[in-house]
Amino acid sequence: MVAQDMKAVVLNGTGGPEVLGMGRVPVPEPGAEQLLVRVKASALNRADTLQRQGLYAPPPGDSEILGLELAGDVVSWGSEVTGFAEGGRVFGLVGGGGYAEYALLDAQMAMPIPDGWSYQDAAAVTEVYFTCNETLFVLGGLDAGQSVLIHAGGSGVGTAGIQMAVQAGATVYFTAGSAEKISRAEALGAQVLGGSAPVTGMNYKEQDFQAEVLRLTSGEGVDVVLDFIGADYLARNLAVLKTAGRLILAALMGGALGEIDLGLVLRKRLQIKGSVMRSRPLADKRAITERFRRRWLPLLIEGRIKPVIDCAIPLEQAREAHEYMEANRNFGKILLTMDG
Ligand SMILES: NC(=O)c1ccc[n+]([C@@H]2O[C@H](COP(=O)([O-])OP(=O)(O)OC[C@H]3O[C@@H](n4cnc5c(N)ncnc54)[C@H](OP(=O)(O)O)[C@@H]3O)[C@@H](O)[C@H]2O)c1
Repeated sequence: MVAQDMKAVVLNGTGGPEVLGMGRVPVPEPGAEQLLVRVKASALNRADTLQRQGLYAPPPGDSEILGLELAGDVVSWGSEVTGFAEGGRVFGLVGGGGYAEYALLDAQMAMPIPDGWSYQDAAAVTEVYFTCNETLFVLGGLDAGQSVLIHAGGSGVGTAGIQMAVQAGATVYFTAGSAEKISRAEALGAQVLGGSAPVTGMNYKEQDFQAEVLRLTSGEGVDVVLDFIGADYLARNLAVLKTAGRLILAALMGGALGEIDLGLVLRKRLQIKGSVMRSRPLADKRAITERFRRRWLPLLIEGRIKPVIDCAIPLEQAREAHEYMEANRNFGKILLTMDG
């Protein structure tokens, strides 16, 4: 019997981490194509901090509760769902609702948790691997023999992107804000090819990444830039792209309004593309899931690339988890666990 109500992180207004509290809310009812999942682990994403501040509303129809990914056990399902058993271990992307005891997951986006994986392993994968497949490969067209600059290399997304780009045969440059993050991300990237991968980090607080990338590439630049900073980096990102290079914007942590030298875009035949996942139609998200399943899940199962978990924090301490993320202290994913 499923309980009528459940434990969840609730927002007491909008603002800093102090608005996060625990509450009891109704257990959601699965729609025709949805699973009800008892959540065992979820994860923080930077977007959660924006939603908390009232700057990133969930799409209509999605849960108001924070949490964009989860891993847990199937409890029940809607009338059109087939092929799932009660207690089956699943993980996947959700439009919201992960910071709770129970959440709804689209059945077509639910993936069985591979044997040998913990709930925490599974909860650390979805957002970052989906995002990097869409940005680096689907939009960015990154291929073997090409080069890429990945910003925020120590972030959840960055730690996935570095591994994927190395695995794909690209030369990887990345930025991060501390010597520790740089050495950890270089080691992470290098281990993908048994210690010999071309992965070079630079500390954006101490080095000019534009000068550094151009120096390291003998003035040539890179094929793809994956950026989360936006305005602050715009001119430098365009300057480090090769002819026919692609700048992929996946967040705007450094502002949304910037000036572009269109002459550079024209002369170098550059492409600038943006990417979001949450607000996209369900059909798109199912296709994103499928692309990940085909290309990257097998490599994760083989252990050639891996989820990077900084820490796992009980759901009740979501406030501390947000503080930790906003202090930029994590390397990889911050998880929330439900059984603590
Ligand atoms: N578009 C999409 O589909 C999509 C999906 C998922 C995530 N994202 C975006 O991807 C980014 C990473 O997400 P995440 O959840 O992995 O984040 P995260 O783990 O919180 O890492 C973010 C890191 O970015 C760096 N950073 C923060 N502010 C910065 C600034 N102003 N300039 C330079 N670096 C800064 C910090 O590392 P340092 O110590 O190196 O400064 C911080 O630890 C976020 O911006 C997020 O919104 C986009």
